[in-house]
Amino acid sequence: MENVLKVGERSYPTKILITPEELQRRVQEMAAVINQDQGNAPLVVLIVLHGALFFATDLLKGLSMPLQIETVRIKSYDKTVSKGIHLLTPLPTNLAGQDVLIIEDIVDTGKTITFLLEEIQKEKPRSVKVCTLLDKPDGGHQCILDYVGFTIENHFVFGYGLDLFEYHRNVPYVGYLVR
Ligand code: IMP
Ligand code: MG
Repeated sequence: MENVLKVGERSYPTKILITPEELQRRVQEMAAVINQDQGNAPLVVLIVLHGALFFATDLLKGLSMPLQIETVRIKSYDKTVSKGIHLLTPLPTNLAGQDVLIIEDIVDTGKTITFLLEEIQKEKPRSVKVCTLLDKPDGGHQCILDYVGFTIENHFVFGYGLDLFEYHRNVPYVGYLVR
């Protein structure tokens, strides 16, 4: 079923890709796997805002180890040049010797996560893992993703935190633009 969403004066035909029920079920499965892998060892979770906000709040409620919750904002001007990426907020200062789990919404070209991994490694953590709700392999990335919610086709997706031109992050499903 098509659903037309407005952003300003423009209208976009969209469809649901992942329902709220599918999201909740999969996110709880992911939390269970992370619990098994990490045991009771403390974990620093680094939420990449704003896209991973909804995913992270659901995921973190299912985690059972002691958690330090941190956020980071990243700006990417132009995805075609990696120099266009920088931190809008500083990284937490106490990552040395810690297990860090990055929580992302989607990995597409992989430039954002590659940049963030390089920045975090400078802080000398004990380990760094990547947890992403969505993996878009057609974006061409070569990243090792430790935890993936859903592998999707080359759609432009939005909802459950991801934006459609800065709007509609709050729809409870993941939708995609119908081209
Ligand atoms: P990458 O650097 O190309 O891997 O892109 C990652 C970032 O681009 C994600 O954190 C998202 O914020 C954004 N992004 C990539 N694809 C989409 C999409 O389909 N919808 C919304 N945001 C996206
Ligand atoms: Mg993002």
